[in-house]
Amino acid sequence: MKQQLEQIRQSTLDALAKVKDLNDLEEIRVRVLSKKGELTAILKQMGKLSAEERPVMGQLANNVRSDVEEMLEKKAQELRSAALEARLQEEALDVTIPGKPVEIGHKHPMNKALDEIKEIFIGMGFSVVEGPEIELAEYNFTRLNTEEGHPARDRSDTFYFTDDDSVLLRTQTSPMQIRVMEQMKPPIRIIAPGRVFRKDEVDATHSPMFHQIEGLAVDVGITMSDLKGALELFAKQLYGQDAVIRFRPHHFPFTEPSCEVDVQCFECHGAGCRTCKGEGWIELLGAGMVHPKVLAGCGIDPEVYSGFAFGIGLERAAMRRFCIPDMRLVYENDVRFLTQF
Ligand code: PHE
Repeated sequence: MKQQLEQIRQSTLDALAKVKDLNDLEEIRVRVLSKKGELTAILKQMGKLSAEERPVMGQLANNVRSDVEEMLEKKAQELRSAALEARLQEEALDVTIPGKPVEIGHKHPMNKALDEIKEIFIGMGFSVVEGPEIELAEYNFTRLNTEEGHPARDRSDTFYFTDDDSVLLRTQTSPMQIRVMEQMKPPIRIIAPGRVFRKDEVDATHSPMFHQIEGLAVDVGITMSDLKGALELFAKQLYGQDAVIRFRPHHFPFTEPSCEVDVQCFECHGAGCRTCKGEGWIELLGAGMVHPKVLAGCGIDPEVYSGFAFGIGLERAAMRRFCIPDMRLVYENDVRFLTQF
């Protein structure tokens, strides 16, 4: 029996050397210490021993049991700390690895140009207002002296929402002239930037959605020379003192007289190229003296007051400002393009 007990101690030690995880350990515990285990089996034979042998063997059996328990516990601790170590290794963060740089974006060239233009007009005493992109034909056309039947209202140019053509995507920011004059009394000096929509095919200088900046000044004694002075100052502040602009007679239903203002092409400096379609000049804005009928329609007496208005094409202004040869680049949002500004 003594031999058997020693054997159990030794075989447990051998088995422990091969243990890989807590499950293996539990198997050993069950095999040796449980009610049906090897040690219990031996203790059951104690009855066969003589009265002198029994306490000696009992003592030895207890020693073996506590040794085995101790060995198991020690191994269990080893396994647990090895598992913890492995987990810590696995989940370790190397705080010294350089981080991924966060790419910080910046303003789109169109917004940069718009901000500069706003600053220029704010400097001349204008304030900035905004209005709806979905507009009434009443404001977009009729009250701008563009009666029904006028070619500008044609369905082939305008995105209408309703069958009666009364609601549309504004084709210009000029309806803001009406909205402002309805609400403010002279002196008025506002600019109104925003999106406008026309059924245009996309090419180097056209897009069905583009931006305009409307300008309106109404006061006593405003003349065409005020318009010219304001726009010349604007062009020189935006493009530099050497910028060349020209005024051409034109027609708009809601201004009289009317003009268009061109800026000399930045690509060819007037010689003619693809960007300016061989013209040497890029159309920048339409302008004129507010038509007396338009003033009167908003309750402003044209005998007392006069005003000028203009509508700048923001894309064209920005393209000239940043030497962008093709309008499509402005909308494609290719980062290789955008990061250049
Ligand atoms: N609304 C005109 C256009 O889109 C531009 C314009 C604005 C002309 C104000 C005169 C006065 O072409």
